[in-house]
Amino acid sequence: MIVRPAEPKEYNDIYDLADAAFKSHLERMMILVTVSEDPRFQPGDLRVVSVDDKVVSMMMLLRRPLRMGRAVLKGAIVAPVATHPDHQGKGYCSAVMRDAVQYMKTHGFDITILWGNPWLYPHYGYSPAMVKTELVVKPTQKKANVKSPCQIRPFVAADVESITRIYNHNTATRTCAEVRSPAMWEWRPKSSEVKLEVVTDAEGKVIGYWSLGTDWGRPCAHEVGVLNDEACGVVFNRLLETAKTKGVTEFYCIIHPAHPFTRFAFLQGSEVRLRSGGGAGMARVLNPISLLTTMEKEFEHRLHYSELHDLEGTLTIMSEETVVLHIDQGRVSTDAETVVGGLQLDIPLSSFNQLITGYIDINELVKRPHITVTGGKHALRLIDVLFPAGLPSGGFLPLVWE
Ligand SMILES: CC(C)(COP(=O)(O)OP(=O)(O)OC[C@H]1O[C@@H](n2cnc3c(N)ncnc32)[C@H](O)[C@@H]1OP(=O)(O)O)[C@@H](O)C(=O)NCCC(=O)NCCS
Repeated sequence: MIVRPAEPKEYNDIYDLADAAFKSHLERMMILVTVSEDPRFQPGDLRVVSVDDKVVSMMMLLRRPLRMGRAVLKGAIVAPVATHPDHQGKGYCSAVMRDAVQYMKTHGFDITILWGNPWLYPHYGYSPAMVKTELVVKPTQKKANVKSPCQIRPFVAADVESITRIYNHNTATRTCAEVRSPAMWEWRPKSSEVKLEVVTDAEGKVIGYWSLGTDWGRPCAHEVGVLNDEACGVVFNRLLETAKTKGVTEFYCIIHPAHPFTRFAFLQGSEVRLRSGGGAGMARVLNPISLLTTMEKEFEHRLHYSELHDLEGTLTIMSEETVVLHIDQGRVSTDAETVVGGLQLDIPLSSFNQLITGYIDINELVKRPHITVTGGKHALRLIDVLFPAGLPSGGFLPLVWE
């Protein structure tokens, strides 16, 4: 079984394969837009297996910078993955995905994330590592008070810089969030069923945006962006009005708990809930040395705001590969040379993925078998400072595809 880059002449067959496997047009659209409009796309990023000259299984990766705290990593979002229904259960997906992991490693990606079947991707080293949360707006809630005159209008091409800036500002410290560019193709909705609107202030400046559509058949706001409280008020009232017009008892807004609009809506009486469905959010570390090297400044920041700000020592992390963090009075450097006698963490990849993203902290992880911390409480505390728990969430690209 040979896994190889898809050839452009095979793209039409791949769109048909995606239609047959998913029974929806969304995945076809994801592939079509990526191969034709994403300037970061490389032919090897769409990988296939064929039988008798017919593509039977495929995967695609999207090259995206991904945040890890304040650090930005070289990331790959995997979507979609499919085997033609006539060829499922024969190991084609595994061949494509195992090859893709090697491909991503040799192309220098630090980490890969995806939303998918929780039973499938652990076979290729992925672990559950992201959360999906939603805000619930009920039509019975009171309108927010908006003092200054604001205007709502449909998104136009000239707004793209503004909404990109708002998006990147709202997600600036969210682990696993992708950094987006103001390229139009990243933002233009592909379906007339998705409404992308903006709100402007009295000077005509864009201060917020939202996209309205559906999520698994439920009307929802896929994404919201806000610059200030005025924008929050207008967005909230627009969602409330949509909830009333749609005649639903609950209207959902897919949003992170730390987003500024979540806080605003929460104070207006909205609930924040964990969202199930739509697959599990998973991550896999690919190149731990380059990943942790890129995070050195972030580690220094984390140490600086802890009682360990003047620590001197080393922490060796042994997972799929060995990485050593040298810590010297708040300075952090990384290499691969094993150090005898320092603090040490032995951790399988499945748990390392969760530690790196902050999905599960070391005090929980250490209860699992096969995880050893050498250096007692001191080592545990250092690992906790370097890898604090959080709510990692990213890899949503709804405005482009839907
Ligand atoms: C999901 C899908 C891609 C799997 O493709 P496939 O070629 O049939 O998968 P494979 O035969 O390579 O099997 C994949 C792995 O899952 C294992 N597996 C298969 N069915 C399983 C099940 N029900 N539970 C647990 N593991 C299972 C296989 O043993 C194999 O693992 P291994 O290589 O470590 O032995 C394919 O069914 C498909 O296209 N489905 C529709 C689209 C879809 O859901 N895509 C994924 C979106 S996240």
